[in-house]
Amino acid sequence: MKTFITLSFLVILGLHKAENAKILAVLPLPTVSHFVMFSSLLEELASRGHEVDVITPLKNAQEVPGLNVIPIQMPDIYKKFKHFKLETLRGLSATSFVKMIFVDHLNLCEICFAPDAMKKIRDGGPKYDLIILEIFVTDCLFGFAHALQAPVISVTTSIDLPWGSSRMGNPDNPSYIANYFANVVPKMTLLERLHNMITLVQTKMTHWWFLQQQEKEAKKFFGEDLPPLNKLVANSSLFLINSHFSSNQARPTVKNVIEIAGVHIKEPKTLEKVYSDFIGNSSFIYFSLGSWTSSETIPIHKLQSIFDVLKELKFKVIWKSDKKKLSNELIIPKNIFITEWVPQLDILCHPNILFFITHNGLMSTQEAIHCGVPMISIPAFSDQFINAKTMVQKGVALELKIETATKQDIHHILQEMIENRKYKENAMKLSQQFKDRPQKPLDEAIYWVEYVLRHKGAPQLKSDSIYLEWYQYHLLDVLFIILSFIVIFLGILYIIIRRCIHLLFGRTHKQKLL
Ligand SMILES: *[C@@H]1O[C@H](CO)[C@@H](O)[C@H](O)[C@H]1NC(C)=O
Ligand SMILES: *[C@@H]1O[C@H](CO)[C@@H](O)[C@H](O)[C@H]1NC(C)=O
Repeated sequence: MKTFITLSFLVILGLHKAENAKILAVLPLPTVSHFVMFSSLLEELASRGHEVDVITPLKNAQEVPGLNVIPIQMPDIYKKFKHFKLETLRGLSATSFVKMIFVDHLNLCEICFAPDAMKKIRDGGPKYDLIILEIFVTDCLFGFAHALQAPVISVTTSIDLPWGSSRMGNPDNPSYIANYFANVVPKMTLLERLHNMITLVQTKMTHWWFLQQQEKEAKKFFGEDLPPLNKLVANSSLFLINSHFSSNQARPTVKNVIEIAGVHIKEPKTLEKVYSDFIGNSSFIYFSLGSWTSSETIPIHKLQSIFDVLKELKFKVIWKSDKKKLSNELIIPKNIFITEWVPQLDILCHPNILFFITHNGLMSTQEAIHCGVPMISIPAFSDQFINAKTMVQKGVALELKIETATKQDIHHILQEMIENRKYKENAMKLSQQFKDRPQKPLDEAIYWVEYVLRHKGAPQLKSDSIYLEWYQYHLLDVLFIILSFIVIFLGILYIIIRRCIHLLFGRTHKQKLL
C-alpha cells in the first residue's frame, strides 16, 4: 500500500514536471551584457536537468556550469563603438541609433550562418525540443524553428522593442506606452505622444524592411521553401522581456509575454576583503559606466573636476575603471579606489553605500533598484537614456549633464543626493515593489519555459491577434464598412432632400408664375 501511495505520488509529481528536454540556444551576438541575462536562464535550465546546447562566440559562456557550449567565431562587430568617446556616444541622435541597429547589422545573418556548427544543426544533427532566440536583430535565425520543427522562445535583454510587441500581438498603444526609441516616459505631453507615435511607426516599418533583407539570407541558408519569416516570428511560443511594472510602467501584456526583470540577480555575497578593508566603517559612493563606455573617455578637465569634488566631499569612492588607461596628468585623490573589476551586486547591496554614479545600463539599473540604491545618471546611449529618465521620474535618480556641468554643478548634484533623504527613501520603496512578487523572476521564467515544453509549444497561450493583418487588428476594414454605410446614407439623404426642395421650390415657382 505504502509503495503504491509513493508511486502514485511520484506519478502525479511527474505530470507536473517537464521531462528533461533538449534545448538549443542560438546566441551569435558578441554582447557580454546581453549574455548576463541568458546565462542565468540557461544555467538554471541546465541545473534542472535539461540538456542545454548554446551556440555563442562568447568565451565566458564556457564558465557557466552545465552548459554545452558550441563555440563559433564572430568578428567584433561592435569594435568601432567601443572606441567612441563618452561625449560622442551621448551625442548620437535616436535616429542614428535606429540606423546603427539596422544598417550596421545588415550583413549579420550572413556572418551568423557561416560557421559549420550552424550548418550541422540545420541539417538535423540532434533533435531539439525547444529553441531559444534573441529578438534584437537576428530574426533570420527563426528559420531554425522551421528546419528543426521545434517551438521557439524569444528573449529580449531590454524592455520590449517595437517589433517585439507586434510579433506577439501585444498592445503597444503609443498614447501611453513609452517606446524604447522615443526617449519619453509615461504621462506624455501632446508633442511627446506625437513623437512617440511617429517613432513607433517608423521603427516598426524600418524593422519590416530589415526583415525582408534578413529573409533573403534565411532563404539562402534554409532553402527557398522557408515560410515567410514574419509568420515564423509570430509563431513564437513565449516572449520573455526584461522589464517589470514597478521599475518601468504598468502595461498590458498578452498571456505569452512575461516580464522577468531581475532574472539575472543572484543573492549578494559578503564583500571581498580588498573592498571591505577599503570601506571600513565609512559610507561610500560607487562609480561605474559599465562595460562599453569607460571613464577614461571623459575629457580630462571634466574628470578632474569630478575627482576634486569627490575629494572635497571626503566620502570613500569605489571607481570602476582601468587605471592604466587614465591619463598621467590626473590627480587622483586618496579617497578614490580605482579598480578594473568589481563584484557589483555585492557592492550595491553593501549597507554603507550612499549612491551609485551610473550609465544606467538596464542590468546595472535593476541591480541598484534591487539593492535600494539611489543613482546619479550619466546615460551614454541606447536605452540608457530612457532608463535614466524613468529613474528620475520615480524620484530615485538625478541626471548629470556632463557636457555642460561645471565643477559647481557637479558639487551641487552630489551634495543634493547626500543631503536630501528623499532619493534614498524612494529607492528603498522601489526596491520593495520590485522584489514583491509571487515568484522570483528566475522561477517564473523557468515555469513558463517548462510550460511551453509540457504543452508542446503551448499554442493556447497565443493571442488571436497574431493571425490578423494590421488593418484588421485596428479594425480599419470594419471602420471602412461603417464609413461606407454612413456615406451611402448621407448620399441618399442628400438626394432625397434635393428632390424635395426641387419639388417644393419648383412648385412655388410654378405657382408664382400662375
Ligand atoms: C567599525 O566600528 C566598530 C563598532 O563601532 C568597531 O568595533 C570597529 O573597530 C570599526 N572598524 C573600523 C575599521 O573602523
Ligand atoms: C508553430 O509552432 C508550433 C509549435 O509551437 C508548430 O507545431 C507549428 O508547426 C508552427 N507553425 C508554423 C506555421 O510554423
